[in-house]
Amino acid sequence: MFAIRQLLLLIATAMAAAVTCDCSQTLTSQLLQTVVSAQPNDNVIVSPISIETCLALAYLGAEGQTAAELATSLQLPQAGDKRAVAQKFGRLFEKTKSATGTATFRLANRIYIDERFQVSPQYNAYAVDQMHANAESVRFADAAATAANINSWVEAETDNKIRDLIPANGLDANTALVLVNALYFKAKWVNQFHNHTTTRRHFHESAARKVEVDMMKQTDDFLYGDFPELDATAVELAYLDTDVSMLVLLPKSVDGLADLEAKLKSVDLTKLSTAMRTEEVILHLPKFKFEFELELKPVLEQFGITSMFSDEADFSSLLAAQEKVAVSQAQHKAFIEVNESGTEAAAATYLKIVPLSASFQQQTYQFVADHPFVFAIKDNENVYFVGHVTHF
Ligand SMILES: *[C@@H]1O[C@H](CO)[C@@H](O)[C@H](O)[C@H]1NC(C)=O
Ligand SMILES: *[C@@H]1O[C@H](CO)[C@@H](O)[C@H](O)[C@H]1NC(C)=O
Repeated sequence: MFAIRQLLLLIATAMAAAVTCDCSQTLTSQLLQTVVSAQPNDNVIVSPISIETCLALAYLGAEGQTAAELATSLQLPQAGDKRAVAQKFGRLFEKTKSATGTATFRLANRIYIDERFQVSPQYNAYAVDQMHANAESVRFADAAATAANINSWVEAETDNKIRDLIPANGLDANTALVLVNALYFKAKWVNQFHNHTTTRRHFHESAARKVEVDMMKQTDDFLYGDFPELDATAVELAYLDTDVSMLVLLPKSVDGLADLEAKLKSVDLTKLSTAMRTEEVILHLPKFKFEFELELKPVLEQFGITSMFSDEADFSSLLAAQEKVAVSQAQHKAFIEVNESGTEAAAATYLKIVPLSASFQQQTYQFVADHPFVFAIKDNENVYFVGHVTHF
């Protein structure tokens, strides 16, 4: 595994974003700004569509300010018309099934609901019938077993690429619902690379630092574009048996990634290929494989989705009984492998929903040491060791 700093790799799909947009406002551009470009030294992959679909499941049970924020942020069609929203995401489900032959594309939704509760008939009609999100009755009091149950569903849907989505201690007896989305994609390149043309070559992590990587190589016709306004060039690699492709955007300068990502906030990535032409390209692309995990709550709050996390949350059309609930946790995990044959990528997102009464009294604190930290090994008198951890 190596750091990819010059490359911003995205799976561009025909379905990935709203058709028209003020692009500085889409979830994709928000993720680019607040997640991808915020971690310049880490490989990052997130799935906007998985997050969006999970939020749509929440929207279908939301009312008032909670619903309004989700509708605005996600640029939902005909905001207020939940049937139209459910149908839009239902079509996404159908679209993934249209990949045939050698390509696999799978999007799945599921609702885990505590045996104390039932979803409302209206929610059932939208989420279950249109978005194919079956509701499974579970006992969250058996927290570890239920987490394992949910995780094994996610593993099955993602061909084992997303494991342990929910930590064993991630649920508790108080949990009312968990809304889950899983996305899996595997396809071969139309133009596959030959194994024997892959060689060890330098990859410049920065102007000052280079490492050796397995660099794939081929010369063929690809969609290619030069974007002076982005100070970058782009190539698009098509996959077999699907209209999904991978767009690779490469800054012209070794240290150009941050500038490029800043400019991309006003670019609709799904539309870039219309400005590209088929050209013969000598293409060098490193093989890579990594996963990335993200706590979504701060990202979504910056994006204007705050109400659903607060004691003002309004999910009054979600449950059959009038129980006030709010989202207490939102988590995302994604994986990608790119090699000579093609790409395998997966993602999963979940929202944990808890009764309001309990959630904000029994506030739990998280300690997620996922960034540089200082440590000390000590007793009441002496510090035996001290240090910090900044990279792996
Ligand atoms: C390349 O290697 C992989 C695994 O080693 C193998 O599955 C694949 O068939 C090879 N491809 C070609 C074109 O030889
Ligand atoms: C490429 O990765 C896939 C999994 O996504 C694997 O099945 C295949 O063998 C790999 N091919 C090569 C050439 O390494």
